[in-house]
Amino acid sequence: MSHDASPRPMAFARSGPLSGVVRVPGDKSISHRSLMLSALAVGESRIEGLLEGEDVLATAAAMRAMGATIERGADGAWTVSGVGVGGLLQPETTLDMGNSGTSTRLLMGLVASHSITATFIGDASLSRRPMNRVIEPLSLMGADVTVSPGGRLPLMLRGLCPAVPIIYRLPVASAQVKSAVLLAGLNTPGITRVIEPVPTRDHSERMLKGFGADLTVEVENGERHIRIRGEAELKPQHIVVPGDPSSAAFPLVAALIVPGSAVTVENVGVNPTRAGLYEVLRMMGAEIAFSNPREVGGEPVADITACFSTLSGIDVPPELAPSMIDEFPILFVAAAFAQGRTVMRGLEELRVKESDRIATMAEGLRAIGARVEELPDGLIVEGTGGEPLAGGTTVASRLDHRIAMSFAVAGLNSLAPVEIDDMGPVATSFPNFTNLIEQLSVPQS
Ligand code: S3P
Repeated sequence: MSHDASPRPMAFARSGPLSGVVRVPGDKSISHRSLMLSALAVGESRIEGLLEGEDVLATAAAMRAMGATIERGADGAWTVSGVGVGGLLQPETTLDMGNSGTSTRLLMGLVASHSITATFIGDASLSRRPMNRVIEPLSLMGADVTVSPGGRLPLMLRGLCPAVPIIYRLPVASAQVKSAVLLAGLNTPGITRVIEPVPTRDHSERMLKGFGADLTVEVENGERHIRIRGEAELKPQHIVVPGDPSSAAFPLVAALIVPGSAVTVENVGVNPTRAGLYEVLRMMGAEIAFSNPREVGGEPVADITACFSTLSGIDVPPELAPSMIDEFPILFVAAAFAQGRTVMRGLEELRVKESDRIATMAEGLRAIGARVEELPDGLIVEGTGGEPLAGGTTVASRLDHRIAMSFAVAGLNSLAPVEIDDMGPVATSFPNFTNLIEQLSVPQS
């Protein structure tokens, strides 16, 4: 799980038109949740399309360590035999979360309302990320946490059973914090309520309901009130995980910036709490079409086609940020090829992702010839108007998969190749990224 041992440098060079119809791996957020909830159901669940990336495998290993039986079948589907809500066992080893903030924060929620103690460790990137945002509500519910200085990993969390139900208004727009409290609430007597002033991805709510939890969502005075009644029994499910819109963003933006391209990514999740990037790209003039809309396992899905487009800079509405929070690195790249200025603000959260995504992108974009101005809460990018960037240098991915893939895409329209110092982190979310880009680069006959 540790990809910080031996860096895997790789160069991405100017490409001819990209074309083809592809699929991307399963949605990371939905994959984590499908393993966790299946592991808490009574009986056997089946999961198709699970993302087999390092982050999700970290969740699988942790759920196994706490008693679930999780296996991959010969057909690529996964089966999970759950322990029942309240049935998690004391793990005998530390839980190695690798690079995965979602695994860490959601699993802390699960452990918080069980009578078990778990120690969470992670790689250098994860060990720099703030955990107080989940420690605070989980402590109110009764968990006892011993944490490294600055609220970082490694940390040890001792759960309490029965835990105390709380009403918690989210101080940051974070689906991970919301989900941690809801998952703790699943094994807590009474009703746990999370108040969400700014909506974030709602996969936890959808899937908890799908598994039979007693969960309601009401909008009161513009805020979402999510109530979960604890100590419910979850029924095993057959889950089909849609393609990850955050992964689809890379080949689709590549098609927008490489002249002559047309790329379709089939079977992409287009949940409105995740699809902000596509809205913003359209505002910039991108030719992007959704086709074949359908619903799969309680989530909206579509095929998305993007064609090479002349993009124009815009002021990106900050209120869209939560619905595209993981897509800013690749939007910065798109903006680098647009005509005029793109202003992106209200993005403080990007500073505490797998890397400081504002600083890392600003540094790398400048190095390959883009004009950018770093702000405390965002970035202003002055685009080339479609001309290639200079490239010809090595950029740092800083243990951040989305940084690595964003600069790889930038290399596809740069005069000299862009070398990424380490593509290893891409294995956390999109293991076949390089092959897929190569496949799209082969001229179609
Ligand atoms: C995620 C929520 C987001 C996102 C992360 C996955 C999730 O984090 O950046 O990649 O699955 O809940 P925050 O909720 O902390 O913004």
